[in-house]
Amino acid sequence: MTKDLLGRHHAVLPDWLALYYEEPLEITHGEGRHVWDAEGNRYLDFFGGILTTMTAHALPEVTKAISEQAGRILHSSTLYLNRPMVELAERIAELSGIPDARVFFTTSGTEANDTALLLATTYRRSNTVLAMRNSYHGRSFSAVGITGNRGWSPTSLSPLQTLYVHGGVRTRGPFAHLDDDAFIAACVADLKDVLGHTRPPAALIAEPVQGVGGFTSGPDGLYAAFREVLAERGVLWIADEVQTGWGRTGDHFWGWQAHARSGPPDILTFAKGIGNGMSIGGVVARAEVMNCLDANSISTFGGTQITMAAGLANLAYLLEHDLQGNARRVGGLLRERLRAVAAQVPHAREVRGRGLMLGVELTRPGTDEADPAAASAVLEAARDGGLLIGKGGGHDTSALRIAPPLTLTVAEAEEGAAILENALRSL
Ligand SMILES: Cc1ncc(COP(=O)(O)O)c(C=O)c1O
Repeated sequence: MTKDLLGRHHAVLPDWLALYYEEPLEITHGEGRHVWDAEGNRYLDFFGGILTTMTAHALPEVTKAISEQAGRILHSSTLYLNRPMVELAERIAELSGIPDARVFFTTSGTEANDTALLLATTYRRSNTVLAMRNSYHGRSFSAVGITGNRGWSPTSLSPLQTLYVHGGVRTRGPFAHLDDDAFIAACVADLKDVLGHTRPPAALIAEPVQGVGGFTSGPDGLYAAFREVLAERGVLWIADEVQTGWGRTGDHFWGWQAHARSGPPDILTFAKGIGNGMSIGGVVARAEVMNCLDANSISTFGGTQITMAAGLANLAYLLEHDLQGNARRVGGLLRERLRAVAAQVPHAREVRGRGLMLGVELTRPGTDEADPAAASAVLEAARDGGLLIGKGGGHDTSALRIAPPLTLTVAEAEEGAAILENALRSL
């Protein structure tokens, strides 16, 4: 049955729509932190549909909110007042930390970042953008133009002039050997050098922890140091919180808060987890920046009632159950457990990340060379053991990505770690 579906998938969908596994899975349902495939196999889900099932699969509170809203109205457009949209915008504006914040809802992270770019380039009257090496911000023509990851850059054509800055990857590149302070100083010097050679940029866009790039980041405080340089020149800072938002990193509600000395970003983008699978993205900016457009703009499906009802219920659950605290506690245990395992696996170069956003980078033993084949083998072995994880990393995809729903229990973390240990040892 699954084989037949795979044939139909290939016959009708694009070749570049990649599937995981030699024998791809059809997931038919889920509950809590578990999903089931069409053959009835049960898996512990440590990837949440790419960090999107944020609280839990089939969370009754979210299901109830969706079905009740579906019984009233699904969509009316933003031409009419929309109570759930206003309510969710109020909550997000307050949580964002951005003063006098305005929120615009989109349907995806890509569209959120595209909006952020539209705002920043219009506000600053510049189409020059700074982005980080190894970054990923989405799939649209504009988002691909700020993607510093070859594996996700199908074209170099772009409406933007993009310059890539160092700092998103701590343990590789020309500054890897430096201590944290010296690393930040070197990245700041690089930023200043870039700024000296270019027309005034609109913004710097950065993921506080790079997602598709393999859960890498610079040292805490890096973006605060960047911010000082940028603010002197009026350059905006866009924090892409599509993967790092809503407490996933445990220590902070937003990834930017690891750099808090700088205060909130000028623009913040979000998506993925807030809808728990319903398509919600959005951008937050202070009024002056958000309102700089002098023409109408609309996202037909953005803020539609059905998705907003889900977002409100999901966010309420997250906050009421302190899932950020859970991510910190259970994620901390999981990271230490993985570090202990990795110390005994020659392929494991590094265990990194924070909260429930953990990466394990694999290299060929005795070298620093990425080993994407090993990452694929561990993915397969984990699946055989009943665990779903993801992978990522520069153009070589050699990092395992572990990002379970934030309700993960200690027992489930232990179970997943044991499966992962066997998978890593099988290399
Ligand atoms: C950091 C980041 N920004 C933006 C996006 C794009 O989001 P979407 O796939 O919802 O368009 C992604 C998707 O993986 C992401 O990880």
